[in-house]
Amino acid sequence: MILVTGGTGNLGIELVPYLAAKGIPVRVFTRHPDRARQRLDETPQLTQGDARNPEMLSPALEGIDAVVSAMTGFGPGAPGPRAVDYEGNLNLIRAAESAGVRRFVLVSMHGAGPDHPMELARMKYRAEEALRASRLDWVIVRPNPFMELWAEIAGRPIIKEGKAMVFGRGDNPINFNSAKDVARFIELALFDPALSRTILTVGGPENLTFNQLVGEIERAAGRKAVVKHVPVPMMRLLSMVMRPFKPDLAGMMGGGIAFDTIDMSFDASDLRRRFPQIELTRMADVLGRKVAATGRRVPGGND
Ligand SMILES: NC(=O)c1ccc[n+]([C@@H]2O[C@H](COP(=O)([O-])OP(=O)(O)OC[C@H]3O[C@@H](n4cnc5c(N)ncnc54)[C@H](OP(=O)(O)O)[C@@H]3O)[C@@H](O)[C@H]2O)c1
Repeated sequence: MILVTGGTGNLGIELVPYLAAKGIPVRVFTRHPDRARQRLDETPQLTQGDARNPEMLSPALEGIDAVVSAMTGFGPGAPGPRAVDYEGNLNLIRAAESAGVRRFVLVSMHGAGPDHPMELARMKYRAEEALRASRLDWVIVRPNPFMELWAEIAGRPIIKEGKAMVFGRGDNPINFNSAKDVARFIELALFDPALSRTILTVGGPENLTFNQLVGEIERAAGRKAVVKHVPVPMMRLLSMVMRPFKPDLAGMMGGGIAFDTIDMSFDASDLRRRFPQIELTRMADVLGRKVAATGRRVPGGND
């Protein structure tokens, strides 16, 4: 049985049904089982708990062979990266060690490091270090931003209202990967002995600037958008002003700044060579599905 934290998130809703469809028993650790049931149907076992509370973890780990930690405290209204991505993972790593778990797969992020400008990436790195220092057999998976999430964030206002918001100039190349592909790499991370004690950086087949992403969405949706650029100095100021009373939104603003100012590209050629069985999804495919799901006509340009 696999314990998944973050099983109700953007990645989890792809990963949990994917594993379950392969006949792999899954238990999802969630703070909100009712919401989890709605997001995941009733396929997996659900266990209620909060990774910030170590006492809730031991019972959840009974009978567990491997753990996937796909939780995060980053996002609007979320408890923050220190509380979840670092301290929550630390609790989970210690509890998994005591429970004699076989393998621990930590979902981190591409670029995680001690000096990264985003707190999230620094906290991911601290969790990685704690896992590497543990007695567990581990795999660290470092994905890039999820296509499905960004198709929603950037796509919805374009599809519904013909409006687009771009962080900064929008000409910094960013690698996006499909959460569906990441789920497949996590399956390998769970079971492939060759991946033991390795860091697997995963990404998509193309790097797109935010301006190019907007262009792809416009093509898929068959409508042009009025594009507004939010200047980086304004995002820096907003992030500083918001930090004391809205740290979650300040952190997200930091993400917007990173999108326009740091290297977020990735070369997938090595990944393709090592794992030819996983065909990397293109942004256009995800956008096509997204537009079709909103009921808008997809013109011939969506290829
Ligand atoms: N989104 C991206 O573009 C991206 C890019 C690179 C890496 N990642 C990483 O990939 C993983 C999945 O991201 P995502 O976008 O799917 O996340 P998400 O949609 O923001 O969902 C967050 C998940 O974390 C769980 N969680 C939050 N606080 C928790 C706590 N205190 N105890 C237990 N669980 C908690 C939530 O579970 P409940 O609400 O059910 O409790 C939820 O399932 C994360 O580790 C993230 O950092 C994401």
